[in-house]
Order: sequence, then C-alpha cells, then structure tokens
Amino acid sequence: MNSPECQYYHGTFIHTPSISQIEILDDALITVNDGIIQSVLTPQSRDYGPALDTAKSAASYTKKKDHGFFIPGLVDLHIHAPQWPQLGKALHLPLQDWLQNCTFPLEAKYSDTEFANTVYSHMVKNLLANGTTSAVYFATIHSRATEILAEHCLQQGQRAWVGRVAMDETTQCPDYYRDESTERGLQQSEASIQFIRQLDGNQASLVKPILTPRFIPSCTDNMLQGLGELANRYQCHIQTHCSESDWEHQFVIDRLGVTDTQALDDFGLLNRHTILAHSNFIDDRDMSIIGNRQAGIAHCPLSNQYFSGAVFPLRKAIDAGLHVGLGTDISGGPSASQFDSCKHVVGASRMLESGVNPALSADARGFNVDNSNTRNNTASRIDFHEAFYLATAGGGVALDEPVGVFKKGYRFDALRINPDTPNSNLMYFPALDSTEDLFQKTLYGATRENIKTVWVNGKVVLAKET
Ligand code: GUN
Ligand code: FE
Repeated sequence: MNSPECQYYHGTFIHTPSISQIEILDDALITVNDGIIQSVLTPQSRDYGPALDTAKSAASYTKKKDHGFFIPGLVDLHIHAPQWPQLGKALHLPLQDWLQNCTFPLEAKYSDTEFANTVYSHMVKNLLANGTTSAVYFATIHSRATEILAEHCLQQGQRAWVGRVAMDETTQCPDYYRDESTERGLQQSEASIQFIRQLDGNQASLVKPILTPRFIPSCTDNMLQGLGELANRYQCHIQTHCSESDWEHQFVIDRLGVTDTQALDDFGLLNRHTILAHSNFIDDRDMSIIGNRQAGIAHCPLSNQYFSGAVFPLRKAIDAGLHVGLGTDISGGPSASQFDSCKHVVGASRMLESGVNPALSADARGFNVDNSNTRNNTASRIDFHEAFYLATAGGGVALDEPVGVFKKGYRFDALRINPDTPNSNLMYFPALDSTEDLFQKTLYGATRENIKTVWVNGKVVLAKET
C-alpha cells in the first residue's frame, strides 16, 4: 500500500519477464516500499491516475529524464573476488597451469587483511558502477578476508552471496594455499556462514553465505561430504565449478568414476540452492539430474573462450528447463560487465550454431540441439533479449531470489540508463531507433558511463550527475 515511506519511479521500464518476452512499459509508475515493489502501473491501469497524483506530491518521486529508462539490475552468478587485480591478464595458460602459476599465488595474498580490504572495497564499488546489483562471490580460504568481503558488500549496499573457498586436497593444492586440514576447513566454512548471517546491519540478509568447494579436484571426498552435511544443516546456498574443461571433467571421471554432476549429487551438494559454474561438458543424464534437483547453472561465455575448449550448449539447457544465469567468472573472463557477458552469449551461440571449421561444408559445420546432422538455423541461437533475461531474471530464478523483473513482490534492484551520455558507445538516433532498438543497442554498446543511478533493495547505492 502507499505510505509516506514509499518511493515512486515514473518513466520507461524495460525488462524480460520471461525468456521469450521483452516488455516495454512506457510512462509507467512503480511504487516501492521497504525495497519491495508494491505496484507496477501503466497508463492503462485503473488506479494509474490517482496513484500518479499521489506520487507527484511525494518527496521521493523520481521521473526519468530525456531518453533515459530503467532496467533491472544485473545478476552476476560467478565472480572470483580475489582475482580482481588479475582482470585482463594472465590468460595465456590452460586452466590447470593458470591456477597453479598465476591464481593460487595471487589468492594466497589475502592472508593479508589490509590487501583484502583495499581490493574488495575497490571491486565492489566498480562492479556496482557496472550495474551488478546481485553478485555471487568465491572469496579465498582465509576467514577474515572472506568476512571483509561480506562487510564491503553490506556497507556499499550490494546484494551478495559470499563464500569462503574450501580446498584441502594435498595433490592439487599447493602447501602455501590449502586448508590446514579437512576438519579445520569445515570448521572455518561453518564459522563463515554464522558470521555472515549475524553480521551487524544484515538483518534483511542482503548478504548471504554460500558454501564453496572450489571444485572436485581441489577437495577430498571427506571435505565434499562434510560440506554437503553443512549445506543440509544450514540450508544455505552452494557453489562450485562443474565440468568446466576437458582436463577437469576427465579428472573427476578418473578419480570418482562418475561425472561432476553425479558426484556432487552423491555428496549432497546439488539442490535448489546450488550454482554450478560452467557445466560445459554435462551430458543428457547430467542435465536430467540438474533439472530434477532444480540447481542453477552460471554460464560464463567469455571465460569459456579461454579455458573450456568447448561452447556450452545453452539452447539445449534452456529447452531442458534448466535454471541458467550468467557469470563473468572474473578473472577467467576479462570483463567486469554483464553487458559483455550478454554479447558473448549471443556470439558463442552463433558460433555453436554455424560451427567454426571452414574446411567443412556449411551443412556439416554446426551443432544442433538434437545432435542430428540436419541443418537448422535456429538450433543453438540465443538472441539479445534472451541473453538479457539470463543476466537478470534468469539469475534471480537460479538463486531463488525475487530480483530481475519489475513485478509486484520483487526487490527493486534497478539501473537508470541514459543513452545521451558524452563519451559513450551507445549510438542512439531517436528518429530511427524504436525503444526496442534502444534496448538492443544498450546491450551491445552501453558501458558504465551510461549507468547513471543504481538501486539495490530500493536504496540508491550509486548516483551520478545527469
Ligand atoms: N576451477 C577451479 N578454480 C577455478 C577458478 O578460479 N577459475 C576458473 N575459471 N575455474 C576454476
Ligand atoms: Fe570460476
């Protein structure tokens, strides 16, 4: 209901309530109370006139300016927070060498809490400026640095899932960067859940804990089993890497005799609140297990170009009804922007569809959802609005969090986009471009310059002039 505490937002809202639908709400009025959308009214709605009169007389009334419009905040399902200083470098090695030579040495530095403080403060600020209102983070093995990350998310107002990384397998993790023991690792993961849940100022659970076995190769069976038990006891989210590269996928089969998906399920780590990063090599059986458990997948199209050796069969996963969202996989993916993930989703899907080997005939080159050799031009294609759905509403579904859509009962996590920004790459021609064209151009051309205001849970967390 309307009350003096309500905020009112008036203008053009663009969102994707389902994967097949772009909805443009012109001249609409959204009323928000305590971070939750109370109503979404358009000029056709019965109560629109009186509601607009009330809104205009309220102190907290925001009207869009010029060609500006609102979109839902972006949901990034897969970020390695400690890898922030490595963004855009060290991408010349295969995954296993990149971890050992570049990434583990960097992550080990977070035993230094001053270093953690400096990097995490910088990263949260910059991700908010890029429009990431919901962020799912791997931290490091260090308890205090993980707490510092959670504190920065809360202070800066970012919705976040923060996970202390568990990794105790002596043959895969270096001496200088490994849990002291399985038991100690489990204790620290448990303490981290409790710390985040009890964090001062986190009563609304803006920041949530997430259990984080790095990936099966870096964890012992006892660690995975223990984390499965913690997940059950604390009913918290879980994240890990799943079937990311040829090496990693085969490593798990050789060690456990089953795929990542089956193994995670056996360890009690696959449920409605699990986010599986990558999942590039999942087969039909894995897909059906993931579907039955209603687990989520973080598709990371940019990082996959460097580490996976294959393109995730996204269309097939969507057709199977899996909960898919997008991740930057910072710093495996060298971009801080989920707009970039959207572009790369579309591009990767087109490569999959057409195929990439010019020595083959066009008919034989592409991948089709049904694995047939019949050429079907739409078999693997993902369009821009489907990519946007995955970066917003799809991420919300994967997390089981009501974000990503402008809908009654959902959280008001939103961005105000201004296409008329100096030094922007968004080329808008009002005489030629429809609102839908402007939306498409936003996904392809918008940068942080175009993001003028960022709201999380109804609160302004970043505001720029104009
Ligand atoms: N697998 C295990 N750790 C990592 C990581 O940090 N990044 C990526 N992309 N894959 C991993
Ligand atoms: Fe990753």
